[in-house]
Amino acid sequence: MNLLIIGSGGREHAIAWKISQSNKVKNIYVTPGNPGINLEEKVSLIEIDNPTIKDYIGIAKEKSIDLTIVGPEAPLVEGIVDEFNKNNLKIFGPNKLASQLEGSKDFCKNILNSGNVRTAKHRSFKESISAIKYVKEQNMPIVIKADGLAAGKGVFIIDDRDKAYKLINDLFTGEIGGIKTSLIIIEEFLRGEEASFICLVSGDKVIPLASSKDHKKLYNGDHGPNTGGMGAYSPTKLINSKISNVVINEIITPTLNELKKKNIEYEGFLYAGLMIDKNQVPYVLEYNCRLGDPEAQAILMRLESDIVEIFLATINKKLDDLEIKWKSESACTIVLASEGYPGPYEKGKKIEGLDHEISGTKVFHSGTSIQDRNFITNGGRVISVTALGVNLQIAQAKAYDRSNQISWEGKIKRHDIGEKEINNKFTFS
Ligand code: AMP
Ligand code: GLY
Repeated sequence: MNLLIIGSGGREHAIAWKISQSNKVKNIYVTPGNPGINLEEKVSLIEIDNPTIKDYIGIAKEKSIDLTIVGPEAPLVEGIVDEFNKNNLKIFGPNKLASQLEGSKDFCKNILNSGNVRTAKHRSFKESISAIKYVKEQNMPIVIKADGLAAGKGVFIIDDRDKAYKLINDLFTGEIGGIKTSLIIIEEFLRGEEASFICLVSGDKVIPLASSKDHKKLYNGDHGPNTGGMGAYSPTKLINSKISNVVINEIITPTLNELKKKNIEYEGFLYAGLMIDKNQVPYVLEYNCRLGDPEAQAILMRLESDIVEIFLATINKKLDDLEIKWKSESACTIVLASEGYPGPYEKGKKIEGLDHEISGTKVFHSGTSIQDRNFITNGGRVISVTALGVNLQIAQAKAYDRSNQISWEGKIKRHDIGEKEINNKFTFS
C-alpha cells in the first residue's frame, strides 16, 4: 500500500514511524513533514507552500495513495474527509460536521449539554458588554475560551476580574497573539487531575487506546500558560478500568448519540480531554478530533499491533473484529521547546546531540529544519523524546537522559513529566 500522512509535527513523526513498521506498506508520503520524519524507512516528503485540500487530492491521485491519515485538526475541520470521499479516495478521520466537536467549542458545549454529559458550566457571548457583566457575577478563577481553532493557545485561566474584562475586550478586537474571535465561551474553573482519553470510533463501536496524560502548562508543577503539551506518558492510573467504563458510557456514547440525532456519524480518533475530580468523577474539558501531540508519541511507542490494520478496520467499519495489543511497559515523552514558546520564539538554532542513542528511546522531530546539513530549530516545540521502561520511573529517567544529550541555545523543557504519578501525588491521592 501507499500511504499519505498530512502534518509536520512530533505526532505525525510517531505515526510515520509506526506505519513504516507495517509490512502492508510500500511507500509513505508525508506532506509537508519535517527532515526528522524523512529519516524513517519508506518515507518521502512532499513539500508544497500553503497547501489546499485540492492539493492533497492531487497528491493522493498522483502517488496512487491507498489511504490518507490526517495528523492535525485544521484539515479535518476544513472538511478534507468529505472532499476525499467525494473523489473516492480513502481517508482516516472524522468528516467536517463531526470535526466541529473540536472546531467549535460552542458546538461542543451544546452537544455535551444536550447529552447531559458532565462538563464545566458555561455561557457563550458574542459581544463584550454582556460577557463582562457575566464575569462580574462569577467566582474567580474563571476560564475564558476563544471559539475556533487556536493551536491550544485560545484558553485563558484568569484569577482577577480586571484582567478578565481586558481579555474579553482584547479577544473580540484581536489584540491577543493573533487570536481574534466573534464568540467567546466563559466557563467555571474545574479542579482535579487532567487525563487524555483517546478512542477509535466507527459507527456505534468505540475502542479506547492506551490511557495517557499530557502536561499542558509551560512550567513545572503545572504553572504558567497553556501550551500544546510539554510532555506526556502512558498508561496512567488516573484512568483505571472503572473510570474507562464511566467515560465510555457516560461521556463518549451520549456524545455520539447526540451527534447521530443531528445525522452526524463519527469515524476516526476521538480525544476527550478530561478533568477527573477528587471523587474520581470525569468531566469533559474539550474534545479533539485527532490524536494528541505529545500523547501520540507515548501511546504509539506502546502499540504492539500493526497500526495500518487499525486504520483499515476503522474505515471499513470492522472494529468488532479488532483487538489492539499494547506493550506492558510504560512510555514517557519529554518535549524540548524553544525559549519564548508558547509566545514568540527564535528559529534557526543549531541542534546538537541528535546522533546519540539509548536503547528503548526514540527521538521524534516536532519542529526542525535542515541548514548546511545540520538540524536547526524551526518551531515552538522542536523535539519530543520518548522512552519505554518497565515502569514509568524508568521510562522517565531514560527519556530525561536522552533529552539531556540534545541541546541548542535556548532549549527549554519541564523537569517533572510523570512525577506526580510516580510519587502518588495527584491532588486527590
Ligand atoms: P481546552 O483546549 O479547552 O482543553 O483547554 C486547554 C487547557 O486549559 C486544558 O487542558 C486545561 O488545562 C485548561 N482548562 C480548560 N478548561 C478548563 C476548566 N473549565 N477548568 C480548569 N482548567 C481548564
Ligand atoms: N496535547 C494536547 C493536544 O494534542 O491537544
